[in-house]
Amino acid sequence: PKPNGDPSAMQMKSYACQRRTPLKHHNSFLTEALEILSQNAEYNDNEGRSVAFRRAASVLKALPHRVKTIEDLRCLPCLGDHSQRVIKEILEDGSSREVESTRQSEQFQTMKALTGIFGVGVRTADRWFREGLRSPDDLIRTGQQLNRAQQAGLQYYDDLQKPVTKAEADVISDIVEKAVHAVLPGAEIQLMGGFRRGKEVGHDVDFLITHPEEGKEEGLMPKITNWLEEQGLLLYQKTTRNSYLEKMDGPARPPNNMDRFERCFSIFKLQKSAVRCKSNSTASVEDVSRGGENERPSEHHSEESGWRAVRVDLVVSPYSQFAFATLGWTGSKLFERELRRWAGQEKHMSLSSHALYDSKQNLYLRAKTEEEIFAYLGLEFIPPSERNA
Ligand code: GTP
Ligand code: MN
Ligand code: MN
Repeated sequence: PKPNGDPSAMQMKSYACQRRTPLKHHNSFLTEALEILSQNAEYNDNEGRSVAFRRAASVLKALPHRVKTIEDLRCLPCLGDHSQRVIKEILEDGSSREVESTRQSEQFQTMKALTGIFGVGVRTADRWFREGLRSPDDLIRTGQQLNRAQQAGLQYYDDLQKPVTKAEADVISDIVEKAVHAVLPGAEIQLMGGFRRGKEVGHDVDFLITHPEEGKEEGLMPKITNWLEEQGLLLYQKTTRNSYLEKMDGPARPPNNMDRFERCFSIFKLQKSAVRCKSNSTASVEDVSRGGENERPSEHHSEESGWRAVRVDLVVSPYSQFAFATLGWTGSKLFERELRRWAGQEKHMSLSSHALYDSKQNLYLRAKTEEEIFAYLGLEFIPPSERNA
């Protein structure tokens, strides 16, 4: 450790999970540009390049000041030649030609519009783009084959494009709490994702549910969704076993008893009156649980009705994995990714939303809190509000 007062004493660490990244920072004019390039690389199926730009942006988010000259970048990690070139151009000319032409490009705009539909990933959007489709309307017009999720995505497109506010997330929290306690008293519910990190808006609302008596949480998800459905609060839901582990976590194949997270992707029907009531702090969940009016089968326009559609993610975790699940579902996505990279590359451990495995000792490390997990990993604890990497 360097003495205080030495400017290099606050040297920027190279993993995002070693740094504090607040929600509001001083370099949006640069990070937004780098994130356009990151997103474009993702649309072109170039993950390495996408992550490189995202890491570069993330370093700038952690700086305690606005970058004014290229000199300010000296000693910063994760800034590749390409990112530095882009930053230099923005500092000198006010904008980057590459970023602006990417932003304007038909491919970028189309991919953004099509992947913005719930249920549509990069692969599908790219195929549609190459077939000449450009917008959600084009999908309807040309009668594309759509799965159930994509149909819901189109039906509620306008609503789902609108950011979810914290006030709306709070009303949804009350509903989820009521549903969960109706079917399993004593269950615990925690708000996750962006809202746990202090965001004021989000693209969805994420919840993690558990019960202090291990095993009580088994089979919980269908009970919750049935309750919600009976109340007319669900527009769409699909419950899946979490396949995240197999996809992302490589060698740390968990024992069978760990492969039982259930996840529900859903779309809630949120009464606007409930949000207004809640803001006046006189809300009761009763206000929001009348549904059942007939919907038009086509696109929903929330201006004309008393409700809007909101994306909600529900996850059920066994109590013994709750700390790992909490850490894994708080985000940001880059923060999570960096935690796993740190664990693997620096500690020979394997971290997932279920467990932490130590390859040197050949054992799973138990944890009741996020703090314990950071400690196992040899990292300073970073609170959720500073995980906005
Ligand atoms: P907004 O919703 O856009 O406001 O941001 P967010 O940070 O809440 O993003 P999102 O809802 O997409 O994800 C929330 C957290 O859940 C992130 O940290 C993701 O990494 C994590 N996450 C998303 N999908 C999965 C999954 O399938 N498995 C696990 N374990 N984590 C996931
Ligand atoms: Mn979210
Ligand atoms: Mn989510």
